[in-house]
Amino acid sequence: MSGRPFIVAIDGPAGAGKSTVSKILARRLGFALVDTGAIYRCVALMARREGLAFNDDAGLEALLARVRIHFQVQGEDNHVFLGGQDVSGEIRTPDVSMGASQVSSRPVVRAGLLQLQRRLALEAQSGAILEGRDIGTVVFPDADAKFFLEANPDVRARRRFEELFEKGVESSLEDVLSDQTRRDAADTARTVAPLKAADDAVRVDSSALPLSEVVQTLEEEIRRRMGSRAPAR
Ligand code: DC
Repeated sequence: MSGRPFIVAIDGPAGAGKSTVSKILARRLGFALVDTGAIYRCVALMARREGLAFNDDAGLEALLARVRIHFQVQGEDNHVFLGGQDVSGEIRTPDVSMGASQVSSRPVVRAGLLQLQRRLALEAQSGAILEGRDIGTVVFPDADAKFFLEANPDVRARRRFEELFEKGVESSLEDVLSDQTRRDAADTARTVAPLKAADDAVRVDSSALPLSEVVQTLEEEIRRRMGSRAPAR
């Protein structure tokens, strides 16, 4: 394990604050940031563009062989590129969000994306933050630090609504909440890699905590673990 980048897993449901917190932490720590939800969204976008149904396993498997994704931090944002094209805005529409939830329930897609997620993290210089649903349980069960961020459904829907508004995506709070409820149910109920906290994850409920406090809690824990891992390297 020596020489491997320091791996931080941040899992939790949509709107719990994972993206915002991960971005700030990655910047402060100088770590790479792998938004695994964006990867599932890219697969859904490709399927949509190619006219594939989100449950067409054979079609999805063929498509996965052609997925080329990379991330690039530009200013405050972590941009995602699909085959060299910046699709950061296009992958956030409600249609692609539902598609991502559906393709992510297909075992063929989860298996196909496992190596890609690991490679993007292991290519990092000193460390990587991966945010998603199954990072601490499946992608990196031996991550150096694991967190599970949660918040109550109303708080999460409002955050997602405001985020979409800022990105210029039209929506209503009601639609965001009902999409979120459907996606939460699908993400939690699926048989492969369902959304669930790893037994050894630090759980943080961000419903009533200011962002700065959530970031501070995670940062202190990460730095403490980095300090205790260093002598072993
Ligand atoms: O975090 P997000 O909303 O961008 O994720 C989009 C979808 O992808 C969401 O419905 C859950 C799924 N997903 C997943 O199943 N596993 C991950 N590691 C990340 C996301």
